[in-house]
Amino acid sequence: MRRKMAAGNWKMNGLQDNLAELEALAQSYGDADCDILICPPATLIHRASSVCGDGIAIGGQDCHNAETGAHTGDISAQMLKDAGATHVILGHSERREDHNESDNHVRLKARAAIESGLKVVICCGESLEERETNNTLDIIGGQLAGSIPDQVTGENLVVAYEPIWAIGTGKVPTLDQIGDVHDFIRARLVRRFGDGVGLSTRILYGGSVKPSNAADIFGVSNVDGALVGGASLKAEDFGQIIAALASS
Ligand code: 13P
Repeated sequence: MRRKMAAGNWKMNGLQDNLAELEALAQSYGDADCDILICPPATLIHRASSVCGDGIAIGGQDCHNAETGAHTGDISAQMLKDAGATHVILGHSERREDHNESDNHVRLKARAAIESGLKVVICCGESLEERETNNTLDIIGGQLAGSIPDQVTGENLVVAYEPIWAIGTGKVPTLDQIGDVHDFIRARLVRRFGDGVGLSTRILYGGSVKPSNAADIFGVSNVDGALVGGASLKAEDFGQIIAALASS
C-alpha cells in the first residue's frame, strides 16, 4: 500500500508572516492519515521546519547538482538538508521554462539530492500544444526516462504529473485523462525499475487542485495524492484537500 501524499508548492510566495498558515496546518492536520509536504521558498525552510515539527515535512523547490562551488544564487541539496528540508521538487515546468532546465539537468540534480539524503519529487507534464497534437504520452515517457536517475527507490522518489496548461489556470484535465497518464507513468516505472520500486513510488497529480475538485481527483486510479500550488498557501484550503485525501 502506498501512503498518500499532499504536497504544497509555495513557488515564489511567502514571507515570515505566512508561517502562521503553516503553524495552523500543523496543529490541525499534523496527525492526518497521509504524508504532508510543504515546499516554501528557500528563505523560509529553516523556520518552517521548526514551526512544523514532525507532522509536516519541508522541502525545497530546486537544487544545484554540485555539492558546493562558484554558482552564485544557487542552492545545493546539502544546504536544503542543513536548513531542515527532507525533500526537494525537481524539474517543475516553471524551472524547465524559466531556467531552460533539460531532462538531463533534472536527472543530475536528482542524483545529487538523493546522494545528500533528500527525497525527490520529479515533475513531468505536457504543454497544451503537445496534448492537442496527441503527443502527451510520448512527452511524459521521454521526461520520465531522461529525468529520473537510476538510484531511486520507492522511498526516495515521488513523481508529479502536472499538465502545464492546468497549472494556475483553473483548467483541469478530465478524470479519464488524468487516469490515462497516471496509469502510463505507473507502467513505465514498473517497466524500468521492476515491481518493487515501480509499485511503491507515489504519483501525484498537480494543476489547479482545489477543495472542490480534490475528492474526485483522488478517486482516480494511480493518483496517490496532489502537488498543489495556489491552494496550498491558505491553511483552510490546503486542509480541506488533506482531509479529502485522507478519507479517499
Ligand atoms: P496550481 O495548483 O496553482 O495550479 O499549481 C500547481 C503546481 O504547479 C504545483 O507545483
